[in-house]
Parts: sequence; C-alpha cells; structure tokens
Amino acid sequence: MNERSDTHEPAVDTTGSGGTGGTVASMRVLGPDGALPEGERKHEVVQAMFDRLAPSYERMNRVISLGQDRRWRRHAVESLDLPLGSLVLDLACGTADLCRDLDGYGHRPVGLDFSEGMLRNAATRAPLVRGDAAGLPFPDGSIDGIICGFALRNFIDLDVVFRECARVLRPGGRLAALDAAVPEHLLMRAGNTVWFRGAVPLLGKVLARDGEAYSYLPKSTAYLPGPRVLLDAMHGAGFGGSARRTFTGGSVQLLTGTRV
Ligand SMILES: C[S@@+](CC[C@H](N)C(=O)[O-])C[C@H]1O[C@@H](n2cnc3c(N)ncnc32)[C@H](O)[C@@H]1O
Repeated sequence: MNERSDTHEPAVDTTGSGGTGGTVASMRVLGPDGALPEGERKHEVVQAMFDRLAPSYERMNRVISLGQDRRWRRHAVESLDLPLGSLVLDLACGTADLCRDLDGYGHRPVGLDFSEGMLRNAATRAPLVRGDAAGLPFPDGSIDGIICGFALRNFIDLDVVFRECARVLRPGGRLAALDAAVPEHLLMRAGNTVWFRGAVPLLGKVLARDGEAYSYLPKSTAYLPGPRVLLDAMHGAGFGGSARRTFTGGSVQLLTGTRV
C-alpha cells in the first residue's frame, strides 16, 4: 500500500468554469416541496452541494455507512479484474477515496469530478481532472478500467454517461459502478428507510451542519432505475456480460461490465 498522499488542486479543468460563486454555493438542493432537482438545475445544485460538503465528506461516509463503505469499495476495485498497473479512471472521484484504493491495489488511477471543492479536498497522488462525466476529456479507447463510487444517481442522463464510459474504454476494458440500492426484503427495506431517511439527515445536521444535503443523498436513490433497466442501459452503451451484485442486505449495488 502506498502511504504517500497529497491534497492538491486539479491538474486540468475541462469544465470551462472558473469555480463556484457564493450564490450557487448557498443554493438549496431540494425544491420547497422537498422535490428532487432535475436537468440543468440538478447539475448546478449538486455541484454546489458537493463543494459545500467536501471538507467533512469522507468522515460522514464512514459514519453513515457504519464503516462498511471500505469493504464495498474493496469489492469494486477487485471486481475490475484487470492486470496490475492498469490505467483506471475514478469517475466522479469526489475526494479520491477510490483513487487511493486503486493505487494501493497496484493500478494507475486518474480521478475526474466536476466539484472543485471535492477535488481540493482530495488526498491522493493520482492526477485529478475537473470535468463532466457526460463529456469525458479522454480519447477513444484510451482507458483500461472505470470505477464509479456512489455517483450514478447524481448524473443527469445515465445513458449519456454509460456511452461516454464505453467510448473511452478500450475493448475488453472494465466498468465497475457502486451505488445505493433499495433492499428487496421488506424488513431490510424498513431498516434502510429508518436509517437513511431518519438518522442520516439528523447526523448530517449535527456532524456536517447540512441536514438538507444529507436528506438529498438518501432521497436521490429515487433517480436510479431498477436493476433490469440499469443492466439494459449498460448493454445498450456497449458493455457485455453486465452483472449486478448487492451488499449489506441489498442496500448497496455493484454493477460490472466489459467493453465489447
Ligand atoms: C456521492 S459523491 C461520490 C464521491 C466518490 N466517488 C466516492 O466514492 O466517495 C458523488 C460525486 O459525484 C460528482 N459528480 C456528480 N455529477 C457529476 C458529473 N456530471 N460529472 C462529474 N462529477 C460529478 C460530485 O461532485 C461528487 O463528488
């Protein structure tokens, strides 16, 4: 495991924006009726929200996942099943948690995210790029693997992002995407609702001083289509052998596929 880690500025900014202004940074995420944002508004408020959450983001992840996210992330890295030294894009890398896991595993990570705040708080030696998942700043077939942690539900159009992933991956390249899921089992679903809809927003309010953001995060699972639709979308974008497995009673899912 490589012990070196630096916090640094993104090496390249491909968003064409100079950063977030005060007005955007203080934007509310949910509508007055608690509705989830859509389209361009979603892009703006989600970016501003992560800029705001960045300093406490990793600590909060450990707390709200009860430490389980380390294990889910390890499974995701292993599921890439690529030779050591592979070039792997950490898509929507946030504070680069998965870049560090990839590095420790022996891959060559590169991180991309559209939130300047998250990238500034990233402790990694991996190169970081500020950019949008819907228009990746990489040539066709130039990447061996893509990993994506808990970001699918934040994208505006999943089909566009899956197609971009397929474009930049080489044939045989691998995609592994982790995200929240709704447990099928009734009891697990009830427990999940109590924790994520009740306790997590409270913890967010107390520990991150942002109850609204930590209401959005569990609510945003509603953006994700069901398993069949997700797997079909991957297939439609150019991935073969797409598969899905779940962890922790079905509250987290891992989607994998191979670029054909
Ligand atoms: C829940 S965080 C996950 C961060 C990191 N992947 C992890 O596993 O901890 C979601 C991340 O997706 C990023 N994001 C959302 N939409 C994006 C987009 N269209 N392009 C790039 N990054 C995006 C956010 O800025 C945020 O850092």
